[in-house]
Amino acid sequence: RVLSVVLSGGSGSRLWPLSRQAFPKPFMKLGGTTLLQQAIERGQACGTGDLMVVTNQDHLFLTKDVLRQMPDAPDATLLLEPKGRNTGPAIALAALECTRKFGGDTVMLVLSADHLVPDVEAFVASASQAFRLAAKGSLVVFGISPTGPETGFGYIEVAHVSRESQPAIRFVEKPDLQTAQEYLATGRYYWNSGMFCFTADAIVSAFEQYAPELLAAARHALDSSQIEGNVVRFDTHAFGLQPDISIDYAVMERAGNVHVVPAKFPWSDVGSWPSVAKAHSSDASGNTMPHDVVAIDTTGTHVQVESHGPKVVATLGVRDLVIVDTPDALLVAHKDSAQKVKAVVDTLKDRK
Ligand code: GDD
Ligand code: MG
Repeated sequence: RVLSVVLSGGSGSRLWPLSRQAFPKPFMKLGGTTLLQQAIERGQACGTGDLMVVTNQDHLFLTKDVLRQMPDAPDATLLLEPKGRNTGPAIALAALECTRKFGGDTVMLVLSADHLVPDVEAFVASASQAFRLAAKGSLVVFGISPTGPETGFGYIEVAHVSRESQPAIRFVEKPDLQTAQEYLATGRYYWNSGMFCFTADAIVSAFEQYAPELLAAARHALDSSQIEGNVVRFDTHAFGLQPDISIDYAVMERAGNVHVVPAKFPWSDVGSWPSVAKAHSSDASGNTMPHDVVAIDTTGTHVQVESHGPKVVATLGVRDLVIVDTPDALLVAHKDSAQKVKAVVDTLKDRK
């Protein structure tokens, strides 16, 4: 039995103005459907019969809208968080509820609701490898071949990079730049994709061993939750007693039974506008933009037009820009500054 667990939290402030606090990344449409729908479909393509979505309680109706538009989606168990407590508690709660509902030997495929994985077939091939390893008790991560010393990712060390799955030597979450450069130079590291696969029993015992307070707090939160049909609502106080920590720091950096399945699929974590641009095919000048944009003497520029109704957009004599137009906000940024879009969001918050 395999359960898809889709983590649909996070605000995506670096993707302003398309993602907002009330309308975060999972509900953003890229390529016609929302990223949340794409994650659910990715799990279904792997033959996972059951579905659990962990999301903020404020996003219940947005989530239900997405599910309603998917007639083939299985009945989803919804875990509604009063606030974000990061992926450690989200996964612990999912594992405990999975054990209660489906049994501890259920394999959980943990997916992010804000990834772009255009080649679903290649993903299915990697996932079936992961299912076999997970069924034997491993904590499986999907390794991405690194393309630079990114400091926003987890790094997984292996003996030799290979096309086959293998035990991880160690897992280091978000190293500093110098450390990331040293890792790259050895050629023996993968990036962590942020997708995981394990049985509920395996991850619960890892929490027991490496983060017992977190597990106890998650048990308490689940015990004091209200369960109505498929919807689990947590008590705000009990939920808030859980530590704010990611699964990477709480478990993956410490556990001994981590296995890597090398990702044979192209992947983007849609972390910023340049990474969204990279997931689109570009024209001869390196631009990623709708065909009807008039681009003259323009290179390396990403244009995203989400305004209602027709609008003529033209760019002239510019390079390496990100231009995102929505009905009530317009962003013009240099790609080199795109990691700092959060500063715009913070400034706007201060003005309120
Ligand atoms: N439900 C829920 N609740 N989901 C959450 C929460 C939460 O409190 N916090 C984060 N998530 C979801 C996000 O929506 C996202 O889909 C996923 O969990 C990962 O969270 P991020 O906050 O985006 O993590 P990150 O990007 O800093 O790091 C993780 O992903 C990288 C790859 O993108 C780590 O796993 C890294 O090791 C990894 O390289
Ligand atoms: Mg992320």
